[in-house]
Amino acid sequence: MSTRKKQILKVIILGDSGVGKTSLMHRYVNDKYSQQYKATIGADFLTKEVAIDNDTTATMQVWDTAGQERFQSLGVAFYRGADCCVLVYDVTNPKSFENIKSWRDEFLIHANVSSPETFPFVILGNKVDTKDSKKSVTLKAAQELSKSLGNIPLFQTSAKNSINVDSAFEEIARGALEQN
Ligand code: GTP
Ligand code: MG
Repeated sequence: MSTRKKQILKVIILGDSGVGKTSLMHRYVNDKYSQQYKATIGADFLTKEVAIDNDTTATMQVWDTAGQERFQSLGVAFYRGADCCVLVYDVTNPKSFENIKSWRDEFLIHANVSSPETFPFVILGNKVDTKDSKKSVTLKAAQELSKSLGNIPLFQTSAKNSINVDSAFEEIARGALEQN
């Protein structure tokens, strides 16, 4: 039996309404996708076991939040103890990209993070499957943002076509484990 304490990695997904937070979580945890949009209300989590090394696993607790509610309805207790924060925008929606920084700033305040410089964030530019003419947020702009916020790891994802979702969550787990 492992002598190590069972680890729970608490991951919180934030971002504007409709960017694909729920879809990314379902793709990662259940490998499922639905075209239908149903706005999330409140917050809910799904869990997935992740392998750490040959004989150790951790439980990743992935919290999906409601883009419409901003930070109003979830109390500070919700954000406490977060091990990683995922910031999602939609590559076809510039407003959702502009809001990334404020989602990050508000998270840091609500979670009362003791060292904001080292707290693990990951940025996901979702819906990368859409045709180029609809993509209004360039990769270059996203790279510049990630750099300006302290080199936050950045992935261009598609929950729809399963692009980069697993590699993004591997990075999320890695960041969370370091923080935990
Ligand atoms: P809130 O719960 O309101 O905060 O929204 P959300 O961020 O959870 O968005 P959700 O996952 O519900 O997705 C919104 C819509 O975008 C749905 O119709 C999804 O099917 C669609 N969508 C999500 N991910 C993708 C993607 O990777 N590509 C495309 N083309 N559409 C996507
Ligand atoms: Mg949702």
